[in-house]
Amino acid sequence: MKPTILLTGKTGQLGSELNRLLPNLGKVVAPDRNELDLREPEKIRQIMRNAKPQLVVNAAAYTAVDAAETDQANALAVNAEGPRLLALEAKEIGAMLVHFSTDYVFDGSKKAPYLETDSANPLNAYGRTKLAGEQAIRELGVTHLIFRTSWIYATHGRNFLRTILRLATEREELRIVDDQFGAPTCALDLAEAATSVLASIFAGTKSQQTFAEANGTYHMTAAGRTTWYEFAKAILEAALEAARRAPQDLPWLASATNARSLITRRVLPISTEEFRSPTRRPANSVLSNERLSQDFGVTLPDWRNQLQRCFSPKYVPANSLPS
Ligand SMILES: NC(=O)c1ccc[n+]([C@@H]2O[C@H](COP(=O)([O-])OP(=O)(O)OC[C@H]3O[C@@H](n4cnc5c(N)ncnc54)[C@H](OP(=O)(O)O)[C@@H]3O)[C@@H](O)[C@H]2O)c1
Repeated sequence: MKPTILLTGKTGQLGSELNRLLPNLGKVVAPDRNELDLREPEKIRQIMRNAKPQLVVNAAAYTAVDAAETDQANALAVNAEGPRLLALEAKEIGAMLVHFSTDYVFDGSKKAPYLETDSANPLNAYGRTKLAGEQAIRELGVTHLIFRTSWIYATHGRNFLRTILRLATEREELRIVDDQFGAPTCALDLAEAATSVLASIFAGTKSQQTFAEANGTYHMTAAGRTTWYEFAKAILEAALEAARRAPQDLPWLASATNARSLITRRVLPISTEEFRSPTRRPANSVLSNERLSQDFGVTLPDWRNQLQRCFSPKYVPANSLPS
């Protein structure tokens, strides 16, 4: 029998992609923030008890990294207390929980890619609240998968890809941080990888693990690594190429640029110090995906291939589909 799946965060970058993929696995119940605000414990209880899901996929989060510095109570409520209550309710009804976390649980001092077993030491409030969410889930002992990912972008929503495209219509010169390393991960590729892991678990064939056996934390990011500066340059190259080719094939690009021309002529690398953000971010937040690959045979494409896919004429953004 197909499971009932409760999906939170369906309007987000990742959530909207999951909302179109998860129906392949089961019956999806996907309340939006008005129907299920993770800051409201009673709502969480009510929805969990009404929907009685076998699987809860939590793609909702407080993701505004800078705002979290001064809005810690809300960030903690959404990123830690809400997931704790989802986990508590899931355990109560015997459901399994899939939760997403972040590369920003690490402090970035390691030179090599981070392993799941490396110690977390977040530098900012967002990272601390996400780590608290992870810990609450583990402590409750609910059967869970925590997928840590990084630098999510999509052709919709608030993200670096769209910010660069907008800035490229406004400024001749962009100055972008070149000393923070990470792996930009497209929400669609991430959703596909997560769905593929779940599909293998639910298929329950001999080579695949059951959910309880798989229980734990997995890193799940694009392959490869880059800096924000290199990522920005790759975005502009892809956008200019798409604009030359057939811009009418990419309505999302016209919307991201307000149908204006790209005027940026120079992209300059700067240091984190020069950028002067009040929020600290790790210098290296590249995650090793070895465990995901070994346990599930799932590997995400290289970040450059993921970016190219967004600019392909075949790409259909999740938010352009009827909900
Ligand atoms: N973005 C990144 O670069 C990044 C990097 C690493 C890890 N992650 C993690 O990956 C996951 C997905 O991130 P994302 O980038 O897809 O997030 P996103 O685009 O910012 O979407 C967040 C979702 O959470 C919902 N939400 C926010 N506050 C809520 C509340 N109080 N109650 C219920 N829903 C609420 C939002 O609803 P509205 O649309 O109504 O606001 C939206 O649907 C999160 O766990 C995030 O921490 C993200």
